[in-house]
Parts: sequence; structure tokens; C-alpha cells
Amino acid sequence: MIEPIWLLAAAATLSGVANANPAQFEHRADKLEAHLQQRGDAGAPEAVSPPHYPSPWMNPNADGWEAAYIQAKQFVSQMTLMEKVNLTTGVGWEGEQCVGQVGAVPRLGLTSMCMQDSPVGVRDTDFNSVFTSGQTAAATFDRALLYARGLAMGQEHRGKGVTVQLGPVAGPLGRAPEGGRNWEGFAPDPVLTGISIAETIRGIQDAGVIACAKHFIGNEQEHFRQVGEAQGYGYNITQTLSSNIDDKTMHEMYLWPFADAIRAGVGSVMCSYNQINNSYACQNSKMLNNLLKGELGFQGFVMTDWQAHQSGVSSALAGLDMSMPGDTVFNSGLSYWGPNLTLAVVNGTLPEWRLDDMAMRIMAAFFKVGNTVGSQVPINFDSWTLDTYGPVHFAAGVGHQQINHHVDVRADHGTLIREIAAKGTVLLKNTNNALPLNKPKFLVVVGDDAGSNPDGPNGCSDRGCDNGTLAMAWGSGSANFPYMVTPDAALQAKAISDGTVYQSILANNRPDTTEALVSQDGVTAIVFVNADSGEGYINVAGNEGDRLNLTIWHEGDQLIKNVSSLCNNTIVVIHSTGPVIVDEWYDSPNVTAILWAGIPGQESGNSIVDVLYGAVNPAARTPFTWGSSRESYGTDVLYEPNSQTPQLDFTEGVFIDYRHFDKTNQTPRYEFGYGLSYTTFSYANLNVQKVPVAPYTPNEGYTEPAPTISTTNASTNLADYLFPNSTLSHVWQYIYPYLNTSSSGKEASGDLHYGEPADKYLPPNATDGSAQPYLPASDKISPGGNAALYDILYTITADVTNTGPVTGDEVPQLYVSLGGPDDPPVVLRGFDRIHDLAPGQTGVFSAVLTRRDLSNWDTVKQDWVISNYTKTVYVGSSSRKLSLKQTLA
Ligand SMILES: *[C@@H]1O[C@H](CO)[C@@H](O)[C@H](O)[C@H]1NC(C)=O
Ligand SMILES: *[C@@H]1O[C@H](CO)[C@@H](O)[C@H](O)[C@H]1NC(C)=O
Ligand SMILES: *[C@@H]1O[C@H](CO)[C@@H](O)[C@H](O)[C@H]1NC(C)=O
Ligand SMILES: *[C@@H]1O[C@H](CO)[C@@H](O)[C@H](O)[C@H]1NC(C)=O
Ligand SMILES: *[C@@H]1O[C@H](CO)[C@@H](O)[C@H](O)[C@H]1NC(C)=O
Ligand SMILES: *[C@@H]1O[C@H](CO)[C@@H](O)[C@H](O)[C@H]1NC(C)=O
Ligand SMILES: *[C@@H]1O[C@H](CO)[C@@H](O)[C@H](O)[C@H]1NC(C)=O
Ligand SMILES: *[C@@H]1O[C@H](CO)[C@@H](O)[C@H](O)[C@H]1NC(C)=O
Ligand SMILES: *[C@@H]1O[C@H](CO)[C@@H](O)[C@H](O)[C@H]1NC(C)=O
Repeated sequence: MIEPIWLLAAAATLSGVANANPAQFEHRADKLEAHLQQRGDAGAPEAVSPPHYPSPWMNPNADGWEAAYIQAKQFVSQMTLMEKVNLTTGVGWEGEQCVGQVGAVPRLGLTSMCMQDSPVGVRDTDFNSVFTSGQTAAATFDRALLYARGLAMGQEHRGKGVTVQLGPVAGPLGRAPEGGRNWEGFAPDPVLTGISIAETIRGIQDAGVIACAKHFIGNEQEHFRQVGEAQGYGYNITQTLSSNIDDKTMHEMYLWPFADAIRAGVGSVMCSYNQINNSYACQNSKMLNNLLKGELGFQGFVMTDWQAHQSGVSSALAGLDMSMPGDTVFNSGLSYWGPNLTLAVVNGTLPEWRLDDMAMRIMAAFFKVGNTVGSQVPINFDSWTLDTYGPVHFAAGVGHQQINHHVDVRADHGTLIREIAAKGTVLLKNTNNALPLNKPKFLVVVGDDAGSNPDGPNGCSDRGCDNGTLAMAWGSGSANFPYMVTPDAALQAKAISDGTVYQSILANNRPDTTEALVSQDGVTAIVFVNADSGEGYINVAGNEGDRLNLTIWHEGDQLIKNVSSLCNNTIVVIHSTGPVIVDEWYDSPNVTAILWAGIPGQESGNSIVDVLYGAVNPAARTPFTWGSSRESYGTDVLYEPNSQTPQLDFTEGVFIDYRHFDKTNQTPRYEFGYGLSYTTFSYANLNVQKVPVAPYTPNEGYTEPAPTISTTNASTNLADYLFPNSTLSHVWQYIYPYLNTSSSGKEASGDLHYGEPADKYLPPNATDGSAQPYLPASDKISPGGNAALYDILYTITADVTNTGPVTGDEVPQLYVSLGGPDDPPVVLRGFDRIHDLAPGQTGVFSAVLTRRDLSNWDTVKQDWVISNYTKTVYVGSSSRKLSLKQTLA
């Protein structure tokens, strides 16, 4: 699918794209020409990202930000140039205790802000909890649990002295099921991800911690996300992968959940490693200035992913607000910002309003979540060692003191984690009433996925191995377990208390003893298997982050087939980071039950016991489609570079996951939204009410001009910016705002291109601080886009009745067909988890349809438009079990 915007942009932007310094810009032009030739032969134009300047400044009237704006203005107006630079630039890799920290502002009593992984708990410390993964939490389809999870994670970060929790994740969305980090996010559906990310953000921020919606945007695979990493694996690339996404797909899929994040008031957004349409995410003015800050009205700050920063002035003008971890590459002691940002303002290249806006956004986010200057929880842990004493500046090895206070922040979160993992476990098959178990006579558990890692639950750094049961996948999205309840331990404890005979073989490769055991009379066998993935910097069994295949690991298919050929009551439990191919055994009559337990976290065993024995009646729904081959998805990871700047064309448009299966009329093994219960439900009485509402009005008019926040004019004398030798001792490799020399800007910067006339490389309007026209899809007040997009146009209700024998939860889902020839047959638009319906009891499902829910993105109007095609509303229990439907008038 080629959008007009690409064609138009290819010619127009060669002179308009602000990429880095002139050298990078020229390089880019060469590269573009080469690609145009190369792809010209193939008939496809190069994807190009059109420029958008100037960078939008904060809006004092933005909903939910008004008070924070006033507090930030009061604070920032007192700041000097170098204090503001300090706020925007990290102190360098391992320069302080958190995975990222910016400079402090001692004069005004502000201690250094701490950015810390991860989306499942506080990373790189102890006495923290390990929560259920985002993907598994999404499977609960339960807003309250998603919120509670966010709140508990936020409380733990707060207790450790963290300012920004680096999560939650909506990028990857999950374009390809093989994507290594899909488990960190929620689901390959923008609505399920949007609701999940918004609830998580509210929870985290209600705990007084700034959330960080990441990775913005198109970060859909691990391969080629970083040049050095890819070269380390032997790939010959010179620039990172470009995710080539057309405007319509961007809005209707990948940007959608970020709009929800912004509407939920998220304080920060992390730009990703990859390029989007051949412009790096952290200096992509189309993505940051136009979409994020312009159209969506994002008021918080944009920080780079670690080492995703690629340029100085141009990234600042393209909308970046914070460089992480601050150095150009880890431990170089050099920075695109820091001294360079000081110089860029002093030499007049970067307008001070842009620096003020960066500081305003950072401070406003800080105040918005309830912080006050001087009362931050001190950072009481160290990411680089668990030793109690050590160097506070780890890279430099200086500042010996107590760095780990081992603060126990777990409270009673284990109970919540157990509940979320149980309520996120999807029952995919259940025949002959195999489940729930009721004091089975003889229970046999088989598989390495039921037992512990011989090296302990934290034995592999960043969980970078697949030994023992899979309760956490690998990468920076992990955290250290305080304990981990294995399925074997929990099932054995339950069996003993029930008087059940219990035996387990915690390996996949013991065919003789396994076959002898499961062949015994009256055995109920539970086979545990898994499939793992993670972040690209760790290679596990040849999987460089992304999964190499969609099959179960460690010959798990063979194990299941062996056991089920001998035992007529074989139950399969899958721990995985996404779908696996189950074709070889799923329909065997001896496989009586199949459960997907996702990535459960520290309470793994207790959670699965709760489901297997019916203490929790399953209601979770699979948050992705289970196909019968990798090809059936129509999308995949690009594993071999197709260019020195690998090009990943999202030619499938909006047709990923269930949208693709529905469009191509393929029957998946288990469809998106599917999941069984120990009871049954019927649906009736669909009622669709139209809500009177004013017509849509595109936003128009102009913003205020960029405000003057500074109360003093910055000196132009370089000597005023020198390192303060008398009051500060220089830490090796640390990034400061100060200059090393005042002899010349060029020497202080050390950049060969320093001083080249700005008009040679700055795009038009980049430094223009005058009032700017509003974008039609934006809003004067409300973050998240034009407020009228969220007007409710219809309310929907339906009756859901428990027709089975036991109490249970049910997850009714609302889908719509937008009706156009290019629209998916159905798209999810709402859901609810109705709790504890007793046998015979009827509950009412209610949901709404907003204007956005019924619109398509119009690439010409650059706005959302409701098409004239007939729209149909569906309610049912999965994306394919839609028993109720009604056409909209
Ligand atoms: C910048 O931050 C560092 C600590 O990270 C601090 O030592 C220094 O005083 C700060 N500089 C200014 C100008 O506030
Ligand atoms: C990488 O590819 C380029 C262009 O194809 C080639 O000139 C260069 O020699 C290659 N480098 C390596 C290390 O293979
Ligand atoms: C300033 O940025 C340039 C790259 O644009 C870099 O080469 C140089 O080392 C930086 N200077 C300092 C002092 O960090
Ligand atoms: C101003 O400083 C920036 C940052 O070091 C540098 O990139 C730019 O070339 C300088 N411009 C002038 C005109 O001195
Ligand atoms: C643990 O995992 C590593 C890396 O995947 C592997 O090399 C090692 O053999 C495993 N150890 C055990 C005891 O399974
Ligand atoms: C799929 O990958 C896993 C992990 O690398 C491996 O154990 C398994 O053998 C692979 N499956 C196939 C069919 O190649
Ligand atoms: C099912 O299990 C029984 C043993 O209980 C075995 O005889 C039979 O062959 C198995 N059937 C299949 C299809 O594997
Ligand atoms: C398995 O086989 C046994 C004996 O052949 C039979 O009593 C039992 O009902 C079967 N179980 C299932 C779940 O089919
Ligand atoms: C700090 O010390 C260095 C070298 O010792 C010197 O070159 C520099 O001028 C001093 N800076 C100030 C502000 O005194």
C-alpha cells in the first residue's frame, strides 16, 4: 500500500529534513538517492518522513496540566541556562545509580531525577516484586486489574526513589507474532492496547511516579534496531531499520494507543531506536512535532531510548526533550547535548524558548504526579551492583558510600500478582470436564517448564535463558525475582493437602521414565511447555530477541505427543511470549485441556493451581490470534537486511493479527478474544441507543506564541559557562552542562562541523516561535486529539446470562464493521469483564462508541472522518463468536 504522502514527500523533503549536522544530512541525501535508484527498479518509492516545524510548546490550558504548568513556570523561570541543560541531559551510562539520571539543580533544591526500568517491576534491585507481563495482564480484559497493577508497580518504584518508570509499552504493538518484545506490551489490537496502557498509566501516576509510554513508534522488531548490536551479530548495516508506515495505518493502528496514553495524562514518552519512514524516531519532526505534540497535544517530555539519540540541534528542534542516558554512546564522556546544548543556545542556533519548553515539560510532568521540590524519596538502590557499599558513580568508580539500602517495597503485591496471572490465564480447550481438577487420584507433572532454573530464578542475567519454568522473558523489560513459585512446587503442595499421589519429571528429555510414569493407570498428566523471546541485546539459543520460529521450545511438541499417546487425560499448559503452533497435538482426544498461562511473574505456580482447581474460574481471552503456521499471519520479522538501511515496509496496512485472518478468510486455531470458562454464557437483547451530539468541528485558529519563561538573558560570554573547578570535582565520563574551554565554541564542542551557518541545514520554520495554526485533529484544551473524537455517539447494552453450573466472570466484546471495502470485517471497540455471575444470573454489558471508534483517518483532510458506508455493531464472546448484531442508522 503506497500512500500519496510518500510520493509527495520523496521530492519535497530533500531540502527540508533536519537530520543532525550537515554531514549527516548529506549522507542522508546520498542514501536516499541510492535507495530511490534501488527501489525504483522494484517500482516502490522510498518512504520519506515529511518535515514539520516548529516544535509545539506547552499549552498552559491543557486539561489536567494547568496546575502543573503554573508550578513548572514558577520553577523554570528561576533557572539558569545550564540548570535547564542539566535537566535535559543524562549524566552518562552508569554515571549514577539508576539506569538513567539527569543532572540535579542543587541551587534550587532539586535532586537528580531517576529513570528506571521496567514495565514489570523495579529492575536491577532487590526486595521488589515481579509482576505479570503486560500481555498476560491484557488477557484479563479487566480494567480494574490493569489499574491495580499499574498502581502497585508505581508504589514500588516510588519506594525506591524512582521518578520515571520506563513503561508501559504500546510499541511493539505486535505486528509480527515473532517480535521479541511483544510480551512487554499488551496486544496487536489498538483498542485493547489503548485501554490497557491508559489504565496502567493512571495507576503508575496515581502512585506519584511519572509513567513513560514507549517505544514511540514502529518499534516492531528487534533485528536491526541498533547498528552496533546488528553488526555484533554480523549484519552489515550502517543505519537502523526503517519502519515504513503510511499515514492511515499510523493513525488507525500504531498511534491509536499513544493517543489513549496522552489522554490518560502520561508524563513522558520514549522515542525508539528505529527510523520511521527513513528518519530516526528521536529526531523525526513528523512523529514528534506533528503527531505527538501537535495533533495529540502531548504536554509531557520525550526522552530517547538508551543511545537512540543521533544529533544535537536537529533533535532539539524536532521535538526531543531529554537525552538518555546522556552520552553519545555508552561511556564516551561526550554528548549531543550537555555542553553542546549550552553552546547551541549561547551561539544563537537553538532558540531559548525551545530549551525552556524542554525544562517546562520535564518539570510539569514532575509536578503533575504530585512531586514537590525537596521532598523526593531519596534513590535508595543501585542498578549496577547489589552490594551495600560501592561507588555512587559506578562508571568512574568514585564516591564510595552506602548505595543499596535494600528497601522492601513489595507490600502485599504478591496477592495481586497471583490474582492477575490467574485471571489472565486463558482456557483454550477443556473436554470431558477434565478441568477443574477435583482431588485427582494420581497427578503427574512433566516438563522443564514446571520446575526451577538450576541456577535459581535470577540465575541468568536479565532472564537471558530459558531454563526452568518461564515466568519472565528476557531483556531490560525484566526484574529480579524476590522468589518464584514454580508450578511443580505449588501443584505438589496442593496434591499433598488433597491426598493426591504426586510425581513430577522436570525435564523434557527423559522419554523412558516419562513414558513409564504416564502409562500408569488413572494418571492425570499435566505437561508444561514454553516459548521465550526478549530484547535484541541477548541471544538465547540463536534467537536474537525475536523468535526464530513459532514452535514450542525444547522439543515440547514431541513431549506432548509422547505423553498424550499413552495417557488419555493429558493437560497442556503453555508459558509463552505470544502464540505458538499447536497443530501437531491440539485436537488429540487425549489432550483434554489446553491453557495459555502467558508470562505470569513471581506467583506462577500459585496462579496456575488456582485455575486448574477452579478457585479462579477462567475468563481470560487470548490477546492475539493463534494461527496454524507462521505464514498464516501475513506479517513477519525481517531477519536479513534488505539494504544497509534495512527497510521494513508495513505493506499489510491495518491488517495484522485477527484483521488479517478475517480478511483472508482463514480459520485460526484460536481467534483473538477467545477463551473458555468452567461455565457457559448466553447473549441476548442487544440495545443500541443513538446519543444526540453536536457535529464534528475541526480545530482551527492559532496557538499562543512561544512564551518567554526565562527572566534573565543568557550571557554570550563563553567564560561564564566553564566548569566550576572551585566548587565541583569532575567525575570521569560524566556529562555536565559546562564547557571545558572558552577559547572557542568549536573547541568546546569538538564538532568538526561546528559553526557552519545554520541556514545550510536547519529546515524552514524550525526556530519560529510565533503563533502557529492548530491542526484540525488537535484540540485547544484536551490532550489526546480533538475532544469531539471522544464524543459518545452510541451507547450499547446487552444481556449476558450464566447458563452453566458454576459462578464465573464473562468478557463480552463489542466489535464494529466500518463497512468500507478497505476496512477489516470487524474491529474491537469495547469490552468489559463482568464479575461473579451466579448460575442463572443475568448481567448487563454496557459499552459506548465514540466518534473516533466509527471514523477512518482521511489522509487528504488530515482528520478523522466517518465514512458513508453502513456500519454494523456486534457483541459476543470473541472476535468470531458474535451472536448479536445490529446495523447503525
Ligand atoms: C548539574 O548536575 C550535577 C549533578 O548531576 C551537579 O553536580 C551540578 O551542580 C549541576 N549543575 C548546575 C548548573 O546545576
Ligand atoms: C558492507 O556492504 C557494503 C555495500 O554492499 C560493502 O561495500 C562492504 O564491503 C560491506 N562490509 C562488510 C564488512 O562486509
Ligand atoms: C558535540 O556533539 C558532537 C556531535 O554532533 C560530538 O562529536 C561532540 O563530541 C560533542 N561535544 C561534546 C563536548 O560532547
Ligand atoms: C552552535 O552550537 C551547536 C552545538 O555545538 C553547533 O552544532 C553549531 O554548529 C553552532 N553554530 C554556530 C553558528 O556556531
Ligand atoms: C541454561 O541456559 C543456558 C543458555 O540458554 C544453557 O546454555 C544452559 O545449558 C542451561 N543450563 C541448564 C542447566 O539447563
Ligand atoms: C524453534 O526455536 C526453538 C528455540 O530456538 C528451538 O528450540 C526449536 O527447536 C525450534 N523449532 C524448530 C522447528 O526449528
Ligand atoms: C490415548 O491414550 C490411550 C491410553 O490411555 C492410548 O491407548 C491411545 O492410543 C491414545 N490415543 C491417542 C490418539 O493418542
Ligand atoms: C481414560 O481411560 C480410562 C480407562 O481406559 C477410562 O476409565 C477413563 O474414563 C478415560 N479417561 C478419559 C478422560 O477419557
Ligand atoms: C578549571 O581548571 C582547568 C585546568 O585545571 C582550567 O583550564 C580552567 O580554566 C579552570 N576553569 C575555571 C572556571 O577556573
